[in-house]
Amino acid sequence: MQAAVLSEVKQPIVPQSLPDPVAAAGQAVVRIRAAALNHRDLWIKLGQYANIRLPLVPGSDGAGVVESVGASSDAAWIGREVIINPAIDWGDDPRAQGPKFHFVGLPGNGTFAEKLVVPVANLSAKPAHLTWEQAAALPLAGMTAWRALFTRAQLKAGERVLITGIGGGAALFALQFAVAAGAEVWVTSSSPDKLARARTLGAAGGVDYRAAGWGPALQTAAGGLFDVIVDSAGGEGFASLIELTKPGGRVVFFGATRGNPPGLDLRRCFFRQIHLLGTTMGSPEDFAGMTAFVARHRIVPVVDRVFPLAEAEPALRHMENAAQFGKIVLTTA
Ligand SMILES: NC(=O)c1ccc[n+]([C@@H]2O[C@H](COP(=O)([O-])OP(=O)(O)OC[C@H]3O[C@@H](n4cnc5c(N)ncnc54)[C@H](OP(=O)(O)O)[C@@H]3O)[C@@H](O)[C@H]2O)c1
Repeated sequence: MQAAVLSEVKQPIVPQSLPDPVAAAGQAVVRIRAAALNHRDLWIKLGQYANIRLPLVPGSDGAGVVESVGASSDAAWIGREVIINPAIDWGDDPRAQGPKFHFVGLPGNGTFAEKLVVPVANLSAKPAHLTWEQAAALPLAGMTAWRALFTRAQLKAGERVLITGIGGGAALFALQFAVAAGAEVWVTSSSPDKLARARTLGAAGGVDYRAAGWGPALQTAAGGLFDVIVDSAGGEGFASLIELTKPGGRVVFFGATRGNPPGLDLRRCFFRQIHLLGTTMGSPEDFAGMTAFVARHRIVPVVDRVFPLAEAEPALRHMENAAQFGKIVLTTA
């Protein structure tokens, strides 16, 4: 099979021919039709991720057709169109992952390949209303956004929500999900064009997080503080998020693209009774909840650009430039 392989960090990912994977007991081989990029793949390529094992086929997101199953696996999966839940062995506690938890695409090989072996437990029917490219875009970012909003922040219809960095894959799902749930959603971005596109997806408005005084300007535009704030940037901007949170509000975060916040206003946090909620990926219940929500609301993931599998390296550079609005997809067809 053909795959995109990372042999050395900070070096290009190159197409290579690898042996076809074989399913062991409890596993399935999926013929990948489309795969999607996540920032995680870029962190791995740049050597900024823990416990990198090389050579590696990166990629956590994929959609395809089940080609074969191993002994004791359910043969009814063969021939079915599926998406892959990239969270393996979450464990028994829905509140947090257990010690065996790991992702597709490190330490094991990932979806930037024509074929992938995964546990049968991580197969899920492809949402019927989505193309291969749209389906591949959904799993990791969709599950992360869904858990952040609903399992962790307990978002309710009518609440006012702020989602930062709307060009990001997970941020955009959070926008689509929060709008579908009946929330009033505001966004930030470095790009006026992305702010305008967010409005076409149902955002009430937004501001440029690079502008001086963007926090008070946003508060004025929105007519008040926020019930729920979703962030994956961290860094210096995090202080403004605390200032923008209503008494009793929730700040939920799953990334630190801009590093740790240089300071945290503890007095404001405790006096306003603010909930600071860390979240990562999701449990099998989160994944099932997310796919059911997507099917019920007929949500269509925003695909920014599709590259052939052989162009995984230019696709990662496109992500590095933060030029995207939505998910970057690789196709094997
Ligand atoms: N813990 C988890 O389970 C989990 C899951 C998914 C992602 N993550 C993490 O979440 C982050 C985003 O991942 P992704 O795959 O969605 O990435 P992505 O698609 O590459 O999005 C990155 C976006 O971050 C935004 N951004 C950059 N600097 C910002 C700032 N100072 N303030 C606000 N936004 C800023 C930009 O938005 P604009 O283009 O609009 O300016 C950019 O498009 C990464 O750090 C990733 O590792 C964690």
